[in-house]
Amino acid sequence: MFDRFIPRINWRNILALFFAFPILPIGAQTSEEKADALLKRMTLTEKIGQMVQINDFNGEIPEHVREAIRAGKIGSMLNEVEVETSLELQRLAREESRLGIPLIMARDVIHGFRTVFPIPLAQAASWEPDLIRKGAAVAAREAAQAGYHWTFAPMMDVTRDPRWGRIAEGFGEDPFLASQMAAAMVKGFQGDDLADPHTIAACAKHFVGYGAAEGGRDYDRAIIPDHMLRNVFLPPFRAAVDAGVATVMTSFNEINGIPASGHVKILREILKKEWGFEGFVVSDWESTKEMIAHGYCEDMRDVARKSARAGVDMEMQSSAYGDHLEALVRGGEIPEALIDDAARRILKIKFDLGLFENPSPYRIAPPRPPLAADLALARESALKSLVLLENSGILPLSPSLKSLAVIGPMADDPYEMLGTWNRDGLPEESITPLAGIRNLVGESVSIHYAPGLDFSRDKNRSGFEAAVAAAQSAEVVLFFAGEESILSGEAHSRAYLDLPGAQNELLEALAATGKPVVLIIMAGRPLVVGNLLDKTAALLYAWHPGTMGGPAIADVLFGKEAPSGKLTITFPKAEGQIPVYYAHKNTGRPPHSRKLTMMDDIPRRAYQSSLGDASRYLDIGYLPQYPFGYGLNYTRFEYGDLKLTSAVLKPGETLTVSATIRNSGKRDGAEIVQLYIRDLVGSLTRPVRELKGFQKINLKAGESRQVSFELRPAQLGFYNGDEQYVVEPGRFQVWIAPDAQSGLMGEFELLPGS
Ligand code: BGC
Repeated sequence: MFDRFIPRINWRNILALFFAFPILPIGAQTSEEKADALLKRMTLTEKIGQMVQINDFNGEIPEHVREAIRAGKIGSMLNEVEVETSLELQRLAREESRLGIPLIMARDVIHGFRTVFPIPLAQAASWEPDLIRKGAAVAAREAAQAGYHWTFAPMMDVTRDPRWGRIAEGFGEDPFLASQMAAAMVKGFQGDDLADPHTIAACAKHFVGYGAAEGGRDYDRAIIPDHMLRNVFLPPFRAAVDAGVATVMTSFNEINGIPASGHVKILREILKKEWGFEGFVVSDWESTKEMIAHGYCEDMRDVARKSARAGVDMEMQSSAYGDHLEALVRGGEIPEALIDDAARRILKIKFDLGLFENPSPYRIAPPRPPLAADLALARESALKSLVLLENSGILPLSPSLKSLAVIGPMADDPYEMLGTWNRDGLPEESITPLAGIRNLVGESVSIHYAPGLDFSRDKNRSGFEAAVAAAQSAEVVLFFAGEESILSGEAHSRAYLDLPGAQNELLEALAATGKPVVLIIMAGRPLVVGNLLDKTAALLYAWHPGTMGGPAIADVLFGKEAPSGKLTITFPKAEGQIPVYYAHKNTGRPPHSRKLTMMDDIPRRAYQSSLGDASRYLDIGYLPQYPFGYGLNYTRFEYGDLKLTSAVLKPGETLTVSATIRNSGKRDGAEIVQLYIRDLVGSLTRPVRELKGFQKINLKAGESRQVSFELRPAQLGFYNGDEQYVVEPGRFQVWIAPDAQSGLMGEFELLPGS
């Protein structure tokens, strides 16, 4: 049945081989050498062709596309999902173009392919880079089997704004943590060898500053001082480059007035020259062309000139390169050396991927349902991404529970659990919380299911009565609320971060029954939850948990597993508090050191400065709803006995900081122990805390363990106003902590000469 996928031996194939081999002269061993050798045989048109990426055209391959491939004018395609079309495209490139250079086929494989893992922001809450690596490896294998060579992931944009819909796609607010996650995901997709047919090329995106979009509005400008770019936004990309990422994608935004796709400094100088990145840079979807709308380019010719000069090697979707680069080179406006560099980079990755030997390694396989082992991993990933934010003690649910009400629009909606960018996962293969609970408890608990609302934005209250009746006939209510997948992701920013539709009213109606309500939120971002807490006995944050979210949630609710995730993004008390993040600056008037009068207590006509002048809000103070690093467990962990091996850290030496963590509760559990520092005086002011390490440990009930972190001077530096990485001597505070707002603090001095 699949013999149509087996390469045919005919005169064309033989001719293609004949033409393909001379391009690999004897002695050309490495991908670089092979790319160089091939480049020498290419015309300018063919080199520019490698720099052109087109999107799928839905259906029949148009004649002009066939012609363009034959003429060597297309180097890559994205989103081709039809197996036969894809094979035919590749055949055209291999057999009917002069040099037989294969196409590189791309797809957005963001958090899983057929097996959908939790959204990246959720995966980050596991604080387990290795788990993230394994998830990406599954996604790579599945995507490779479907014929893709390249994913546009991971997204590693540090962001501090939950209004921004794409917060779901990244790892949160912290550059150190995001760097670890980014590197792990790159390794997961790419494995040790890109030529391994189970791996695909990764893409570090979006370079750079996309997460700093003004007002959290997607695509908006980013104003980022150079030192902040280096200290906050660039580190994950650097980590990805160091991990060997094959490609980098430019971002849509402008950075300090220059759109990323035309930004010479970030692309050519920092990424390629300073970091020595050897892969290639692809623009984001028409981000080159959009430089006209930004007001940075006059027309498409100008777009081609500025993008190529800046260092964009491949243009996605728009046609500035295809239409104008050749004339620009022939007219002397672009040196051919720039084109050679771009084409060589692209060819190198194609050689690395082994595409010349076999451009379609897996096309003989039909689409496969997820494997059991992959589903088990997705379940583990969902489990470890769950963050318990509140618990009166009602969770885990009592084993003697006899009846349960399951309410809410997210309780049994297999599509909405999959989150943004789900393109290849099938809702019918995902297990909802309702199904997960039923599978787990069987007949032992009677379950009264009434969604109350059809979907998260639903305002129709006709289902309330049945939901309230279900609540009344049960001992405990589980309310699955949140945001549908479409409310986060690209261009899906929100100004209000509440539960949309009539979910809040439904929660009120449920709470009015007097039955304890456990709130489970499934969402693509932090929501503002403070006003919900007086109506709930517990709050479990489940994000968009992917294919296996239901069983993972059920396991935690019933205590088969304990929650252990911690937030990698600060939860605001109100939208007006954004941006709010742990690594903020102290200001000259830090609020924690002052007596503050809150709004309701301000006497009428109070004197202006009598309220305690400090950096805060009169109505909500200065603390967030939940800090970075926060998450509860079913047990308690006590931190004690902080020790530093020395009060001074000398050049070339290492300081060990340790503390004893004790599981003082009655259950076994995992704790994510965090190491923070504060540089008290700097030539540029430093954040009040910076994450420098973390460890996840499993402790049995009653067990204690000493957890140690090593600090070396090089970890204590930062980029200064001259963009130099400096390690400045002086006093430092250090914490071993359960989250960014608490912990045990010590102090040491970094001696000069470090
Ligand atoms: C997104 C990228 C994505 C690309 C291709 C763009 O709209 O910003 O993240 O990789 O589309 O689908």
